[in-house]
Parts: sequence; structure tokens; C-alpha cells
Amino acid sequence: MAKPGRLAVLERVQDLREQHEVDLAIMNAENLAGGFSVTPSLCEQLFASGIDVMTSGNHIFDKKEAIEYIRKQPRLIRPANYPPNTPGNGVWTGEIRGTKAAVINLMGRVFMPPSDDPFRVADAVLDSLAIETKVRIVDMHAEATSEKVAMGWYLDGRVSAVVGTHTHVQTADERILPQGTAYLSDIGMTGSYSGVIGMNKSDVIARFTSATARRAEHSSGQVRICAVVVDVDESTGQAIEIQRLNLSHEQ
Ligand SMILES: [Fe+2]
Repeated sequence: MAKPGRLAVLERVQDLREQHEVDLAIMNAENLAGGFSVTPSLCEQLFASGIDVMTSGNHIFDKKEAIEYIRKQPRLIRPANYPPNTPGNGVWTGEIRGTKAAVINLMGRVFMPPSDDPFRVADAVLDSLAIETKVRIVDMHAEATSEKVAMGWYLDGRVSAVVGTHTHVQTADERILPQGTAYLSDIGMTGSYSGVIGMNKSDVIARFTSATARRAEHSSGQVRICAVVVDVDESTGQAIEIQRLNLSHEQ
């Protein structure tokens, strides 16, 4: 989320990769640039610093330059259940040290902008993947925990992990579902916790209390890094362990 979150990722990603023996590092990038969308240079900086794949969500096209960039950068994906002609892809596939992997981005429909049915789209995306692609990670970008939990159960045993984003508030319900899918309703936000989900608190309060409020700026200070580490058995695609991280980060 905005500059505080971005700097925290840049400063800690290599260290966290080593500490947790991370083979594939995925971040949700929809709030990268000032809280809204991405710029090509910020994405490239993060890709060069240890991020492998970026997912996104409802804010991905808030900046016009994201449209051209996502067409030529397959490591940045957008919700797979956006309309069919939307620039970019809803899934990334690649190989990590000889293991085929896929990252899938879905967006919920409860209290969210209109989009296609993420459940049916998830079925279609999974059908399109090669059978050898056993490691499958889903970012379920959604507001409602009920819709996220439902997606977790719907995909249990068919993907390695379903982890939620969008609310910026981490939930404490991590577990491995019976068929081997790691699940967490929301990873939470990497960014400043001195405001309201990353935005300046007086700006946001003004938006709730007046009719003339301006656009909010991002907040600064009280930075935390929120993440989840999933250990996947690459021969089966089943999750072995899920660990939630919520670290304070001095800036
Ligand atoms: Fe979002």
C-alpha cells in the first residue's frame, strides 16, 4: 500500500525470502502507486528486488499507464473474471526450479464493482491449466469473508492455496482444508497502520462525515508487513503448512 508499504517490501523481501526459503514470491500490487494502481517503473523495481509475480484487483486500471504495461508484462495479472477483452491476463504460469506453477487472480462480487462469476471462471481457468501444473495459488480479491470462505471450500483439493486480499485487514483464520488447500480469508496490508486501511485518517473521517470531502492521501508511520508463507508439496500440489506473518517495520 503506497510508498510506506512499497519501501517495506523493497527493504525486507530478500531477507524474508531467505528466512522462509521462498521459491515463489507473490504480492498484490493494486495499491502500489500512492494507493491506486501501478506504474511500470515501480513494478520493475519490485520485480528486480525479489518479487516474482504480482496480482491485483479493482484498482489495477486506476492509472492509465497500467493498461499498456499489463499487456506486455505477464508477471502482472488482473482479475480473471473481468470482461474477456480486458487487457492483461488473469493467470500467470511459469516454472520455478523445474516445478510448474500457476498464480490465479479472482475478484469477488459482494460489495465490489461488477464482474463475472468468479466460481465459474475459476473452473474454466483450472480446466485450461496443464495437468503437470500442480502448484496453484489463488488470490481471491474480495470484500466479504463469506465469499472468500466459499471460494476456499469450492477450490479445496483443486489448488494449493486460496488467500484473500482487498480489505487490508488481516484475518486469523489460516488453516489447511481437508483436501489439502491452504486457506486465509485476508492476508492484510503491508503499509502504514496510522490511518484507515493505509489512507490518512482525517481525510477518511471527512469522507464519512461531510459531503465535500476530498480524495484521501496515504498515511505514514506504524508500518507493518503482512504476508503468508505456504509450504506446498510440489509432487501433489497439496499444502503442507500455512504460516501468517504480521511484522512491524521501522521506517
Ligand atoms: Fe481492492
